[in-house]
Amino acid sequence: MLSLMRTQVGIIGAGPAGLLLSHLLHLRGISSVVLEKRSREYVERRVRAGVLEQGTVDTLAEAGVGERMLREGLPHHGIELRYGGAGHRIAFERLVPGRAITVYGQQEVVKDLIAARLAAGGEIRFEVPDVAVHDLDTDTPSITFQGERLECDFIAGCDGFHGVSRRSIPEGALTVYDRTYPFAWLGILAKVKPSTEELIYAYNDEGFALHSMRGPEISRFYLQVPPDASLDDWPDERIWAELKNRLETVPGFELATGPILEKGITPMRSFVAEPMRYGRLFLAGDAAHIVPPTGAKGLNLAAADVRVLAEAIGHWYETGSADLLDRYSEVCLKRVWRAQHFSWWMTTLLHTFDTDDAYGRRLQRSYLDYVTSSEAAATTLAENYVGIPFEPFGSLGA
Ligand code: FAD
Ligand code: PHB
Repeated sequence: MLSLMRTQVGIIGAGPAGLLLSHLLHLRGISSVVLEKRSREYVERRVRAGVLEQGTVDTLAEAGVGERMLREGLPHHGIELRYGGAGHRIAFERLVPGRAITVYGQQEVVKDLIAARLAAGGEIRFEVPDVAVHDLDTDTPSITFQGERLECDFIAGCDGFHGVSRRSIPEGALTVYDRTYPFAWLGILAKVKPSTEELIYAYNDEGFALHSMRGPEISRFYLQVPPDASLDDWPDERIWAELKNRLETVPGFELATGPILEKGITPMRSFVAEPMRYGRLFLAGDAAHIVPPTGAKGLNLAAADVRVLAEAIGHWYETGSADLLDRYSEVCLKRVWRAQHFSWWMTTLLHTFDTDDAYGRRLQRSYLDYVTSSEAAATTLAENYVGIPFEPFGSLGA
C-alpha cells in the first residue's frame, strides 16, 4: 500500500533548475515538493558551472536568493581569447554596455537555494530512489518512489540529462536533435591564486584550454582531451604540464600551480528534445537540452526555463488559463536554440578536431582574427556570452 501525499507541483531533481523553480513557485504562493536521488552533501559539492549571465544574476537577486552571490561572486567585464602568441580581450563594457557575467560556482547557487527553501519551510527529499512518473496525459499526474505516491497538478522534470523524466515520455512524442564531439573536457579545481583576472579561452594546435576561477585563492581549469580519456592517464604533473603548454603562450605569462582539489572528465555533447512538454510533465534545464560547456550556457538556460515555467504555472493558478503553459516550450526553445548555436560555434572555433585538415585550421584562425578585430563580430560574441535579454512573457518584462 502506497502512502499518499499531495502538492501542487512535483519537482524531480534538486539541481539549479528544480531548486530555483521550487523557490519561484513559493514566491507565488504555490506549493511544491522536490525529490532528489542524491544526498544533500553530494549536490552541494558537485563542481560544475561557474559563469552566470546577467539575466541569471538578476533572476536570483530579484528572487531574494542573491545576497551571497552579490557579495562573493566575481563580476567580469571581459574575457580573453588567446591564440597565435597573443591575448585578445573581448570587452563587454564597450561592446554590450551594462551587461556582464558573474563568476560564482554552481554548487554555491545550489547551497543558497537549498538554504532558502529550507528556511521557508520548503520540502526537499534527498536520497529518494526509484522515482517514476504516472498519468502524465491526465489532469491528475503523480510521482511514485519508495512506497510513496505524490499526487500533483503538474510535474516538473528537472532531473538533468540522465534523469527519468524525459525517458518516461512515450516514444514518438519527442523529436531529438543530437551531436557529439570527438573530444572531452578534463576539469580541475586547484588551490592556487588565479594567474589571470579574466577568463582565458586558449586555442592551440595541441588542443583547447580554459583558465577560470572560483575566488581569490581557487582556480578552475579545463583541458581538451580525447573522448575516451581516463583520469588514470592524467596524473597531476601531466595536467599542470599540459596547462602550461597551452596557456603560457604569450610573453610574460606564467601559470601558478598548486594542490588539485578535484578532477573530472566531461563528454561534450549538444542535445535538444522537442517539445519540452508532454501533457502535465514539463521538462526544464539539462533534462530537455544540453550544450558543450564552451559557451558557459547550461546553467543559465536551466534558470531561464524555470523562470518561464514558474510564470506559466502561476498564471494557470491565478486565472485558470493554460495559455502560457501552452507557449512554454516554444518560448524556451527559442532561447535554447540560440544558445545551442553559440555553444556549437564557440566549440568549433576553439577546439582541435582530429579530422581537421590544414584548410579547417586556417578557417578557425581566420575567424579568430575576425572576431578579435571587427567590432561587429566581437559584439556578436559578447552579446551571446553575457546572454541575450529575456523576451517579454506573461507579466515578466524584458
Ligand atoms: P542538474 O544540475 O544535472 O540537476 C539534476 C538533478 O536531478 C541532479 O541533482 C540529479 O542528481 C537529480 N536526478 C537525476 N535523476 C534523478 C532521478 N531519477 N530522481 C531524482 N533525482 C534525479 N553551465 C553554465 O551555464 N556555465 C558554465 O560555466 C558551465 N560549465 C560547466 C562545466 C562542466 C564541467 C559541466 C559538466 C557543466 C557545465 N555547465 C555550465 C552546465 C551546467 O552545469 C548544467 O547545465 C546544469 O547543472 C543544469 O542544471 P539542471 O538543474 O538542469 O540539472
Ligand atoms: C567554469 O568556471 O567552470 C567555466 C567557465 C567558462 C566555461 C565553462 C566553465 O565556458
